Amino acid sequence: MTVRTAILISGSGSNMETLVRSMTGDHPARPVLVLCNRPDVAGIERAAGLGVPVHVVDHRRFADKAAFEAALDARLRDYQTDLVCLAGFMRILSAGFVEKWPHRILNIHPSLLPKFRGLDTHARALAAGETEHGCTVHEVTPALDDGPILGQARLAVDPDETPEALAHRVLELEHRLYPAVLRRVAAGDRSPLQLD
Ligand code: GAR
Repeated sequence: MTVRTAILISGSGSNMETLVRSMTGDHPARPVLVLCNRPDVAGIERAAGLGVPVHVVDHRRFADKAAFEAALDARLRDYQTDLVCLAGFMRILSAGFVEKWPHRILNIHPSLLPKFRGLDTHARALAAGETEHGCTVHEVTPALDDGPILGQARLAVDPDETPEALAHRVLELEHRLYPAVLRRVAAGDRSPLQLD
């Protein structure tokens, strides 16, 4: 049975593109929908160019978070979504929303969780003198950037590099890690993957 996969984005959508491109051939999942909470970002054209239905659900047009999340939920159900991949989606989902999709939401985060939850992960990793850094794919639970780890990829930090250069190198790792984890999860394997 095909795992119908939706991808939620807020920005450039480079992770979304690698996920969409990975879901071909004998892959157990297929992309059915891209949702974007911002009307003006590059990821929208990118999704359209890949031939995936894309809908903007602009959080600023709703009275509150509950109404925004109800609209997201309705779109996901319209497309009979089985699995949701957050890919640079920059809204924090409420516990109520997450609990409606138990074990069915994945997220990629640009740090080696549990280190550096939240924002500005690369600058914080450099400031902390970390010798290693990377990215994590995890199951989404109500607590921010928490939940069972499904995969990590790591690199050696060059203490002289800028946060931007480090972000670029981590993003390349993300593009390897997320498709690999998605494939395993869609096939029913949630054991943590370590990529080097
Ligand atoms: C990625 O680095 C992703 O890990 C990060 O945003 C970037 C999105 O890039 N996500 C978060 O920080 C989530 N809190 P993309 O739009 O090109 O995939």
